[in-house]
Order: sequence, then C-alpha cells, then structure tokens
Amino acid sequence: MIKVMFVCLGNICRSPMAEFILKDLVKKSNLENEFFITSSATSYEEIGNDMYSYAKDKLIEKDIHFEKRKAKRLKKDDYIKYDYIIGMEDANIKNIKKIIGEDRDNKIFKLLDFTNFSKDIDDPWYTGNFEVTYQEIYEGCKLFLEYIKNNSN
Ligand code: 4NP
Repeated sequence: MIKVMFVCLGNICRSPMAEFILKDLVKKSNLENEFFITSSATSYEEIGNDMYSYAKDKLIEKDIHFEKRKAKRLKKDDYIKYDYIIGMEDANIKNIKKIIGEDRDNKIFKLLDFTNFSKDIDDPWYTGNFEVTYQEIYEGCKLFLEYIKNNSN
C-alpha cells in the first residue's frame, strides 16, 4: 500500500484537487487497492471546510469524481504514516518541515518536481485561474504515478 498525503496552505483548493485527480488516475490504472490518498493543510484557516466551489466546478468540468470533505491540518505524526508528503510550492515545503521536522526518510516532495518543469503551483485562491491549477496538478499527478510504477517492484 502506497500512502500519499498532498499538502497545500488551506486544503480547500490545490491539495484536495490533487487528491481526487490522483484517485481518478489510480482508478483508471486499476491500482485502487494499492493506494491510500488524502490531503491536508499547513494553516488553520479553513479547517473543517469543504473544497472551495471553484475547485469543485473545475473537477466537475473535467469529469473527476470527488466527495464532500472537511479540510484538516497536517500532523507531525503523519510523517510516519505516509510514504509521500507532496506539497505545491516552496512556501508549503517550508511549512511542512516546520510541522514535521527533519525529512529523515526523504518523503517530502514538491508536486511538479516529478515533471521536467519543476515550479510552484500558484495558489488559485489568489490567482483565480483554476484551469492552470488543474493542468499543472494533473501533469504532476500523472508523472508521479509513472514514477511510482517505474520504481515499485
Ligand atoms: P489552497 O488555497 O492552499 O490551494 O487550499 C487556499 C485557500 C484558502 C486560504 C489560503 C489558500 N486561506 O487563507 O483562507
């Protein structure tokens, strides 16, 4: 079982989009039983809130299944529970390390580091451009899954 924790600032836009996009890709690869995928926030702002409506609209437009959920905060002991802790931008990675401490087992990644155009995924809460966010997250998740497939026995 590969356990994946996506992380963003609020856990209402980017990380839940990544959660449901990867779940969709994993399902289409018939690998549902091999993965546990979830997401969380580094901030407390939106804890308990469902995904932001524009993020939901984008997933509906792309025919990606999602469920009602409640934003939760990343916990220190998530580090031992998950194999991959994947943030969206450098500021995220900094905040993840503040919560978790040292990345002893090299589990912390930035999503677009799995692509050949490593960059931050800008916060659509501020940019308002959910299409760009979707495209970047989709590409990151697709290449992350390829990385897993190529690196597991
Ligand atoms: P996210 O976007 O990190 O992609 O979920 C945000 C949503 C809300 C806030 C910040 C970022 N906020 O500060 O309320």
